[in-house]
Amino acid sequence: MSMACWLRANPRTIPARNRAYTRRNCSVFAVDTLTGTKIAVPRSIWRGMQLRSATASRREEDRMTPAARLAAAIEILEGLEKTSEPADRYVRDWFRARRYAGSKDRAAVAERVYSVLRRRATFAWRMGSDARSLVIASLLAEGETSGAIEALFSGANYAPPLLSEEERRRLLCPPAGEPPSHVKGEYPEWLELELRRAFGDALEAEMQAMGRRAPVDLRVNTLRAKRDDMLVGLRSLGLEAEPTPYAPDGIRIPSGEGLSRLQHTQFFQTGAFEFQDEASQIAAILCDARPGMRVLDLAAGGGGKSLALAAAMQNRGTILAFDIDPARLRDVRPRARRAGAAIVSATPAKDGPEWGDGTFGIVLVDAPCSGSGTWRRSPELKWRLTPARLKELTALQTRLIDEGASRTRPGGRLVYATCSLLPCENEEAVAGFLSRNARFRVLPASDVWRKATGRDAPPGMGEYFRASPLKCGTDGFFVCIIAHIDG
Ligand SMILES: C[S@@+](CC[C@H](N)C(=O)[O-])C[C@H]1O[C@@H](n2cnc3c(N)ncnc32)[C@H](O)[C@@H]1O
Repeated sequence: MSMACWLRANPRTIPARNRAYTRRNCSVFAVDTLTGTKIAVPRSIWRGMQLRSATASRREEDRMTPAARLAAAIEILEGLEKTSEPADRYVRDWFRARRYAGSKDRAAVAERVYSVLRRRATFAWRMGSDARSLVIASLLAEGETSGAIEALFSGANYAPPLLSEEERRRLLCPPAGEPPSHVKGEYPEWLELELRRAFGDALEAEMQAMGRRAPVDLRVNTLRAKRDDMLVGLRSLGLEAEPTPYAPDGIRIPSGEGLSRLQHTQFFQTGAFEFQDEASQIAAILCDARPGMRVLDLAAGGGGKSLALAAAMQNRGTILAFDIDPARLRDVRPRARRAGAAIVSATPAKDGPEWGDGTFGIVLVDAPCSGSGTWRRSPELKWRLTPARLKELTALQTRLIDEGASRTRPGGRLVYATCSLLPCENEEAVAGFLSRNARFRVLPASDVWRKATGRDAPPGMGEYFRASPLKCGTDGFFVCIIAHIDG
């Protein structure tokens, strides 16, 4: 007998009587995909229905053979070579177009793709850098024998084509000697010098920490909830939640699991927390935004920092979220509504009425960058960065920091931030700016932090904040606070 599979329905297709009931009871509109039955149910029941649907599909979770999973991983890795889309979105969309894959298949294929992205240098050194070779090397790293690999690459049905002579030769003859440091550290060889400048002798340890799985970090939205209450709430859902060590409103789920589950909790849907790495939360605190101020978030993206600033300002004052890309700004309004952050407005247009006289007490430039600080979460970024792209980014950073300065009123503060580890995007961008602008000076981040939080400065915080997974247990991040001297 087929089981019902309940999906969320369009509220307009639910009978009016049920809609009214639903609004009162904060419920969910659902449709049975088998019979077309439409109903409204309380949220607690909806969760159970989703479990039932999951049980129904669980039977189908093992539909692909191990060899077909390998072929899928190879196809995805080849696709990732040709796109600039984030890997998680690419993998999700790939499976959306291939409904035959069950949940275990999806998990196994995604796990292999990520294991290759994380250890690409090691695997390429062992076997070669095309997708097939990388997948073969990942099997060797798991302890598979050459015979077992040969059997998986059988060319039958959905399996990958037979091994070539060259692949067979490489399979049987590992490279001689020790792998070079960029292979051990899993970073592109051409970045060695720049990363050494950032970390010196600690480079190997830093890169090892960067290779570990990232936790899920949340920022409790103090406009809606308190951290202690949220910890109790999340633990009641069976999640191992703990306070972040440095950010006063942060919560960490160390296992890094439960992300999609968290998105479906009522806490998230009512704006009680946002997903935000602890370093990013610290960056927002270092803006030292106070109630009543006028703030410009000049590269606002999805508005993560604007929302944190609104909470710090207790929803008093104004925050203008600007981004050159209107698509990136699309989420800001709904997110601000959910978070109750009424002081945030978003615009992709420069110098409309919301810009006032065009200057602000605080200007945050959360600049587009290499993303090298987020390699734990998005390992594909390491392999996509090129010297030419890095050059483009540093030129853009120079333009944006200058523009931020021109928008900072005398007596105000310009905060320059990146999620990059690289000195050319961080300290050098600041040094270049200071050499062009005599009326600005750096305020030590540790002083700003102590004043804003009354707490000791986290590791990596002195004149600047330089976060890394090894030092702080966060993503890599850089923040510099620059005062516009008055008079
Ligand atoms: C690091 S992301 C911002 C992340 C965001 N602040 C947050 O916390 O979610 C950098 C953003 O800069 C934007 N950007 C790129 N060039 C820009 C420009 N010339 N002016 C303003 N924004 C720009 C990009 O579209 C991107 O959304």
